[in-house]
Amino acid sequence: MDNFVIDGGKAVKGKISISGSKNAALPILAATMLTGEKCEISNIPDLMDIKSTFNLLNYMGKSCSFSGHIFSVSEPGALKHHAPYDLVRKMRASVLVAGPLLARFRKARFSLPGGCTIGVRPIDIHLEAFKKLGAEVTYEKGDVILSAARLRPGRVKFRFPSVGATENLMMCASLIPGVTVLENCAREPEIEDLSLALNRMGAAVEGAGTGRIRIAGVPVLKGLEHEVMPDRIETGTFMLAAAAAGGKLSLLNTGIALVEPLVRALRRAGVKVSAEKNGITVLSPGGRPRPVNITTEPHPGFPTDLQAPWMAFMARAKGICEVREEIFENRFMHAAELMRMGADISVMDRRAFIKGVPGLLGAPVMASDIRAGAALIVAAAAAKGRTVIRRVYHIDRGYEKIESRLRAAGIRIKRKRS
Ligand code: UD1
Repeated sequence: MDNFVIDGGKAVKGKISISGSKNAALPILAATMLTGEKCEISNIPDLMDIKSTFNLLNYMGKSCSFSGHIFSVSEPGALKHHAPYDLVRKMRASVLVAGPLLARFRKARFSLPGGCTIGVRPIDIHLEAFKKLGAEVTYEKGDVILSAARLRPGRVKFRFPSVGATENLMMCASLIPGVTVLENCAREPEIEDLSLALNRMGAAVEGAGTGRIRIAGVPVLKGLEHEVMPDRIETGTFMLAAAAAGGKLSLLNTGIALVEPLVRALRRAGVKVSAEKNGITVLSPGGRPRPVNITTEPHPGFPTDLQAPWMAFMARAKGICEVREEIFENRFMHAAELMRMGADISVMDRRAFIKGVPGLLGAPVMASDIRAGAALIVAAAAAKGRTVIRRVYHIDRGYEKIESRLRAAGIRIKRKRS
């Protein structure tokens, strides 16, 4: 297993090019199940979750190739309708093939994704919505089976704006002739990217990025050529690493509009952020930031995926602040690890109180999920001395070659095999 060894306390200086968005790529790759024609999707990050999707699509009968960040999918023969446990347990987003399979074949069978370190993560919102469109839901040996003699367009109001459910239903409705209206939808930018892809395939999706999405479905969808949007969570993580370590970092191939809530919070903390033609520049004095409270919320609120790296940045705030987690029930695993580095954090249910300390000290720590791992990198970049992060496979799930890219920006980070 690999570790990251980080010698912190050095200011950043340089440029990093931002990868394509993992969370946009995953639903768009699932959408290739909606068509028998060839699809070619570019700007796909080279990550474990993409490899898991590659394996899942291949298992289901697609023929995939992935090189130079281009993912090509064709369909040489009949497809299976079953996403088995071994593939689904590696990646929760596998549940996104359910909508396309149901729409195209009127049946889908997939393993229930189960829990993960950040909470239970049920899929009831997806299933309730499929039922509204005419699907029957049954269970067998840990699998969910969806079937429908005929699917019908309709009106679905989500009880919560779930990102995955919005995506799954958009894909399913695109292949149901007639008009489906989805309400209380998630408004994340990745949903707009999926809508662009579905429209390129011949669907008519309107309103993505708002709470109400109208989909005029068609009987057959065609092949796709599409370039995935930049990763806003990677953008935000690198901005926070620069903010914490101090110095000047330019991020290329991304946009300030993708990270607005973070930009507002960073400016209040005393960090300068400016929009460039094709990116963002962060200029941070280093030292102790002003304390800034944040609450995670569905988009356009502060993203839950940046909550952990934000907490790492606030660990050295000049004062006390609060972080509220309103999306996931158990997403403060990083707090205990940050405390091993000298942070003063107390967690009460979904609230964390951070009493800023003058400095963090390097320590051996462990990543518990992708973003908790990213938080440890942010903290380690600002800490005095050496931090060794274990279980970096979690970090590798969300960030392509993070160590060489951060090294190019002046952070002293190495990958070591233990
Ligand atoms: C997506 C992102 C993930 C991000 C999350 C919230 C991908 C691949 N992953 O995950 O990085 O952290 O959005 O921005 O895009 N819920 C239910 N029932 C459901 C579905 C969700 O109760 O049927 C709950 C979840 O347990 C969670 C909350 O709703 O507490 C948000 O989940 P959701 O928006 O669905 O997140 P994902 O699509 O899984």
